[in-house]
Amino acid sequence: MEILRAEFVTSAADREGFPRDGLPEIAFVGRSNVGKSSLLNKLVNRRALARTSATPGKTRLVNFFRVERREQPEVLFVDLPGYGWARVARRERAEWQRLIEAYLAGRAALRGVLLLLDARRDPGDDERDFLPWLAERGVVVRLVVTKLDKLRASEREARLRAITRELGIPREALVLTSAQNGAGIDALWNAIDALVSREPAARA
Ligand code: GTP
Ligand code: MG
Repeated sequence: MEILRAEFVTSAADREGFPRDGLPEIAFVGRSNVGKSSLLNKLVNRRALARTSATPGKTRLVNFFRVERREQPEVLFVDLPGYGWARVARRERAEWQRLIEAYLAGRAALRGVLLLLDARRDPGDDERDFLPWLAERGVVVRLVVTKLDKLRASEREARLRAITRELGIPREALVLTSAQNGAGIDALWNAIDALVSREPAARA
């Protein structure tokens, strides 16, 4: 994939701050620390376009990045704040949820959500509840396993089986990636382009 340009557009704390240019958007969603910002950076070959951190909860606003490629449609990547970080105050957690839902529930430009799953963890209630919530709102989701490099080859199949069983999805539904070694990045771009070329869903 040839990236001509990848640039930060804006950070938003509420709906009023979201861009209005109508470019197709792909949102990165998942627990804090799952690797959303790292994967976004890897897709555009940039080390630190989206800020990453070993401290969960680094991304607290909705961040928009414009990506220009050779002979491909322009796309906005949307880095959403991570959910499910137990150590933050309840009030702050509610605030994150409000912001994520404000974005996901009514966004005409949104072509699809990448729901990221850490290869080492079993999906929890957050992920399980999220899939029907998105489906009800007509949002198309692709499931992306992150940090594949952290699994030994011998444990890989068992881990993937656990993930697919928990979520009740087929194995083919998972895109397997590593932001560290670049595994699965081309496959993920293909999945993204399939979403971008869809007609936007009619939303209730
Ligand atoms: P929040 O913004 O807090 O929601 O986190 P995030 O989902 O954006 O995660 P981030 O990309 O900041 O990554 C969290 C940590 O995981 C960082 O220390 C990354 O270096 C590490 N990490 C991310 N992706 C990978 C990967 O594919 N392999 C390995 N080994 N580490 C990764
Ligand atoms: Mg982040």
